[in-house]
Amino acid sequence: MAGKFISFEGLDGSGKSTLIAGVRQAFERAQSEVVVTREPGGTPLAEEIRRLILKTDGESPVSATEILLYEASRAQHVAKVIAPALASDKTVLCDRFSESTVAFQCFARGISRTEVDSLNRYAEQGVRPELVVLLDLTVEESRRRQKGREAQAGSAQADRIEREADDFHQRVRNGFLAQAKEEPSRWFVLDAGLDAATLLERTLSELRRRGWLGA
Ligand code: TMP
Repeated sequence: MAGKFISFEGLDGSGKSTLIAGVRQAFERAQSEVVVTREPGGTPLAEEIRRLILKTDGESPVSATEILLYEASRAQHVAKVIAPALASDKTVLCDRFSESTVAFQCFARGISRTEVDSLNRYAEQGVRPELVVLLDLTVEESRRRQKGREAQAGSAQADRIEREADDFHQRVRNGFLAQAKEEPSRWFVLDAGLDAATLLERTLSELRRRGWLGA
């Protein structure tokens, strides 16, 4: 695998999309080929699975079904999009990846770490982010931003996961921070309360420091 695989994690409203857009521009300016994608989703079939996972009407999945749907989406996404892009030397920027499954399905839902790790490794087929950028945000601030978005006319309502209680989202946040502690050299933690320009500048500096982006 020649290309670099970078994922972005954080609570809803932490500013991942804005940061990813800025990083994409920086790579494009440096004439590097870049693929921007997301999980769950990223291929037509995986996007159909995403819709099943997040919909709020009808039967809710039990936690085993939920994790298997995330992993099904991931297996398809890795095989069809991420692995081929890395093999052709492209940089892949992914909004969420397996580290979300550890935070949400293990720390917040309570599935054992051994089971989550083993399902993640099976879906990844050897493809893992070399760097995970975490936009760390308090649950209160995440909620505040979410409400602001919902108040905008025509904006989407909260999905099934966003509707979980605050203590669920607190466990998700703890789950991200715990993983960052386990592998500090693979994680880059940012305070998502900072303004967007500062978050972008710090991320680009880290990428330059690693030699992944020209000066
Ligand atoms: P998004 O809103 O960031 O696009 O992600 C959809 C939701 O799915 C979000 O609340 C996080 C959650 N999620 C998991 O619970 N497990 C996973 O493995 C992934 C990738 C996302």
